[in-house]
Amino acid sequence: MERSATEGSPAADWWRQAVVYQVYPRSFADSNGDGLGDLRGIISRVPYLAALGIDAVWLSPFYPSALTDGGYDVDDYRDVDPQLGSLADFDEMAARLHERGIKVMVDIVPNHTSSRHAWFREALAAPKGSPVRDRYIFRDGLGPDGSTPPSDWTAMFGGPVWTRVPDGQWYLHLFTAEQPDLNWENREVRDDFLTTLRFWSDRGADGFRVDVAHGLAKNLAEPLEPLPAADHLTGLADPPGRHPLWDRDEVHDIYAEWRRVFDEYDPPRAGVAEAWVHPSRRPRYASPDGLGQAFNFDLLEANWRAEEFLRVITDSLAEAQRHGASTTWVLSNHDVVRHASRYGLPAGDHRMSTLNAKPWLLSNGTSPELDRALGLRRARAATLLMLALPGSAYLYQGEELGLHEVADLPAELLQDPVFSRSGGAEKGRDGCRVPLPWSPDGLSFGFGAGAAHLPQPAWFGPLSVQAQEHDPASTLVMYRQALGWRRRLRTAESLEWVPGGDGQVLHFSRPGGWQSVTNFGSLAVPLPHGTVLVASALLADGQLPPDTTAWILGSQ
Ligand code: NOJ
Repeated sequence: MERSATEGSPAADWWRQAVVYQVYPRSFADSNGDGLGDLRGIISRVPYLAALGIDAVWLSPFYPSALTDGGYDVDDYRDVDPQLGSLADFDEMAARLHERGIKVMVDIVPNHTSSRHAWFREALAAPKGSPVRDRYIFRDGLGPDGSTPPSDWTAMFGGPVWTRVPDGQWYLHLFTAEQPDLNWENREVRDDFLTTLRFWSDRGADGFRVDVAHGLAKNLAEPLEPLPAADHLTGLADPPGRHPLWDRDEVHDIYAEWRRVFDEYDPPRAGVAEAWVHPSRRPRYASPDGLGQAFNFDLLEANWRAEEFLRVITDSLAEAQRHGASTTWVLSNHDVVRHASRYGLPAGDHRMSTLNAKPWLLSNGTSPELDRALGLRRARAATLLMLALPGSAYLYQGEELGLHEVADLPAELLQDPVFSRSGGAEKGRDGCRVPLPWSPDGLSFGFGAGAAHLPQPAWFGPLSVQAQEHDPASTLVMYRQALGWRRRLRTAESLEWVPGGDGQVLHFSRPGGWQSVTNFGSLAVPLPHGTVLVASALLADGQLPPDTTAWILGSQ
């Protein structure tokens, strides 16, 4: 039977309009001075998270890992990396967050394990055809001696998707060779993840962010099909759902099982899919019979242009309404160039702001020239606009400080496999993962007692938490004010556009008299009537300057 997304108690729906703050644990706060952030570091900053005014934290992986892919190569799904702490630390962290009314979302990485996972080691030690190999995807090679890989598919970070093992077979990995893909047709694999979901739920996890949720189900019937020319990442194959690797319809059977586990708890555990799929395919992941919510990356991909934002917002809300889901909004995360930097670069093609920033990153941030002030000004305006929208908003650590991407990390210090696997053709994601600055000086700007695992630039000091928290014009104070007002103004999930302007102003109202108005143009425009609650830049003479958002309370 189809269930409604709004069914159940309000507590069950906490995620629908939640503000979720993403913590990348290794770069958040380091409690023991080893240069790596850890769970006790997060515990020490719970008061900061509470003062920010968020509803939940999502923790990127903190599991034991060789860090081949920033922790998305998991050795053991039911433990904490000893460098980051212990299960007891997790319990304490969850308890401290819960005391402050903050929910906890754990990152689950089901498409692949790490090559150090006990299962993969067992698979390598076992003979060809053994049941323990069936938990992964092993195939014989082609050609008389099997030395040609089973297909010519390319992995996400470059290089082939197949790696050969000493007995001559090949295993599939959509990401790095250290991330072998699991075989989701294997019942043991499915059951083990159900155990993991219960393990964290029993320990107080309120929800799960599901990595590469559009992977998992694959059509590996032989002969292996050539991959459609369409976008490899999103599997925009025609007809939809037929790409051999991505976004296959069968994947939803897996999430229906997960939903049954989520619903064993009160309130039910929440889920959010990381699914880079065509917008028309997103509702399946966000279905109440599946994960319940899916990331909507359309705003993140939009350029700072009124028409792009308008189109994305209108389409996303219409789609959410059609399916009874609440939409999500994202401007930054640990995989993309920070939005302050994206908006300080010349705009590129329609909805391509993240791709557009890649050549800039590769030039170490030298070309084209970044307009730092403009980028930050627009980022603040974009955030304020996003936080006024119905649905839930995902924030990425450091954006509340107005951090730019660290684009000039030297090649020899890069950790992201994207750099090495692409042969240097892409710089990768380290620039948004540089540890946070908490104080204006010190070896790692208060991140920890020692140096940080990725070097922080000198310009981090003036952007530190301490430098900003008492400055009413700072980005941090703007986030705190906005989140405070958002909580007080929380209202039904609807929005009404207010016509006017010359196409350069996006103005809408929410039930209860909350209005948000953003000026994307180059000339100041008159502010609507009412009381200004918060603004992304200084206002003067009743005008809304360019690249600015203001929230107004009062009738239009
Ligand atoms: C998506 C994660 O966000 C990213 O950081 C990771 O590299 C891939 N999935 C592979 O797990």
